[in-house]
Amino acid sequence: MTKRVAVVTGAARGIGKAIAERLLRDGFIVAIADLNEPEAQATSRQLAGTDSDKVFAIYVDVTDSASVRQMVDTVLARAGQIDVLVNNAGIGGPVGPIAACSEEGWLRVMAVNLTGVFLCSKAVLPHMLARGAGRIVNMASIAGKEGNPAMAAYSTSKAGVIGFTKSLAKEVATQGIYVNCVAPALIETELLQQFTEEAINYMVAKIPMGRMGQAQEVAALVAWLASEECTFSTGAVFDVSGGRATY
Ligand SMILES: NC(=O)c1ccc[n+]([C@@H]2O[C@H](COP(=O)([O-])OP(=O)(O)OC[C@H]3O[C@@H](n4cnc5c(N)ncnc54)[C@H](O)[C@@H]3O)[C@@H](O)[C@H]2O)c1
Repeated sequence: MTKRVAVVTGAARGIGKAIAERLLRDGFIVAIADLNEPEAQATSRQLAGTDSDKVFAIYVDVTDSASVRQMVDTVLARAGQIDVLVNNAGIGGPVGPIAACSEEGWLRVMAVNLTGVFLCSKAVLPHMLARGAGRIVNMASIAGKEGNPAMAAYSTSKAGVIGFTKSLAKEVATQGIYVNCVAPALIETELLQQFTEEAINYMVAKIPMGRMGQAQEVAALVAWLASEECTFSTGAVFDVSGGRATY
């Protein structure tokens, strides 16, 4: 494979870490971008093994445009190019009825899950457009397709990610840039600590396969969307839900 560089946000742990690990295995140089810099550094060291040139950690707060621009500039200075952006960073946010959802909690979820996707995409696009090549993969959720009860902020933010993906994909469809999103059902990561047992049981009960997914199963799909084999798919929502959403 010729040199290819991927930036994965929220890659210090969970699904993002599994994506970084998979892309590394597929031959990418990978930037592990995360708000939690010590954990990103530890993940980078763990994944690097003997080849520390191939993976590096970088601080980013995806809600802060200056931090996002700094991330893109640093990756370009260090790796020379960005072929793939995986907008994976996300939080669960308030769980409960709308009446109990604080305005602050609502806005925080929108800032991380939705505005973060916009800011990172916007920051990387000039570079991708100049090269006439690039792939952006956004992390949506089944919650954005179906709306999980008691998770209005999260569901709304992820529906927003789906809308953003479709719109941006059409905007750049003839310019060599592919934009898709992935909609996982429940995946076994530390994010689930942000949800109640009741909410988790509801989500597992909805999955025909009767189990949670694993981060590696999401990573395998993202790896294909990030690869040069993905040439006629853009603006699409790819399901990884154990049969929960068959549309
Ligand atoms: N776990 C699931 O069941 C599930 C299902 C569907 C979609 N998703 C989505 O997948 C993505 C990853 O989820 P996960 O389960 O691995 O979560 P996680 O909590 O294990 O990891 C999220 C990572 O994002 C980072 N992060 C949070 N806010 C950030 C910010 N402002 N800037 C930069 N980084 C930030 C965290 O530090 C953390 O390393 C999220 O977008 C989530 O909504 C998860």
